[in-house]
Amino acid sequence: MSKEKLLKILEESKGTILSGNALAEELSISRNAVWKAVNALKNEGHDIQSIKNKGYLLSSRSDVLSDSEIRMNLNKDLSEKLNIIVLSEAPSTNSYLKENKDLANNTLVLAKTQTQGRGRLGKSFHSTDQGGIYMSLLKTEDIAKYDTGLATLAAALAVSEVLDGLLEEETRIKWVNDIYHNGYKLAGILTEGTLEFETGSLSALIIGIGININTEDFPSEIQDIATSLYRITGRKFVRNRIIGEIISALEKYLLMTKKDKISLIRLYKEKMLYLGEEITIRRGNEEFTAHLSDLNEEGHLILKKNNEIMILNSGEISIRKRELL
Ligand code: BTN
Repeated sequence: MSKEKLLKILEESKGTILSGNALAEELSISRNAVWKAVNALKNEGHDIQSIKNKGYLLSSRSDVLSDSEIRMNLNKDLSEKLNIIVLSEAPSTNSYLKENKDLANNTLVLAKTQTQGRGRLGKSFHSTDQGGIYMSLLKTEDIAKYDTGLATLAAALAVSEVLDGLLEEETRIKWVNDIYHNGYKLAGILTEGTLEFETGSLSALIIGIGININTEDFPSEIQDIATSLYRITGRKFVRNRIIGEIISALEKYLLMTKKDKISLIRLYKEKMLYLGEEITIRRGNEEFTAHLSDLNEEGHLILKKNNEIMILNSGEISIRKRELL
């Protein structure tokens, strides 16, 4: 327990030296116990330096997923209602929430690595242990507060907004769930639901978010389509802060799905790729081209094909820019 408390104190003063004496006093333990706890934290990967005659320093660049550091980046209300689970490995954080049926509303599960990270339309999501964010948020109560059909759009906006702040330039959203930077995919969202058997209503909403943060290399199959914050900037980022910012933004945009749909759609459209352009739409094995005219209030695509208007929802389709032959 004192190990967790010690980590919290070090995290609150990240980047400054704290003396062994002061820490021992604050935790009501011996200096030797502080030393032991520091070593245990170092073994878990926390970047702590022991500085002779001065004390201990948690580097401001230390990037181990941590419950308490995520909470430091949330407001009090949000921190109190969030239940955070950090796993070192999971097949998929979305699947984890689906399988563990007794988890509380507002559980956020994070994994350092996923062995079967999933994307939309049966695709996989590359999730190796190189400092990416792989997380899923569970909503089981008051789902009627949200328009769940717009949840993916809300999450994409939240992620894109936070990434813009980090990159100091604009990322774009490829409808409906992918975040792009200069033609490369940086993040993706997978929203899933569980239906109540008797009533057919939604009993759980799961919002899965995957972001390539500090990833240095991608497998050859995706190296020409994927990127990470590290590859764009040459810098490494601290994930706990980013996670806190995304969860805060996500709450804001999820509430807008019901209360202020029009603004949500307007903001989404400002970030959306290919609006007003010719695109190729894939539905199962079928492909066709059309003009992407607009997005309606449900977040569905309004397309024009041979002077006919078509409205398509996200169910089974994906889009890409029309390639000119
Ligand atoms: C996509 O690329 O189509 C969406 C990718 C979503 C990936 C995230 S990572 C956390 C969560 N768990 C998963 O298996 N998928 C989502």
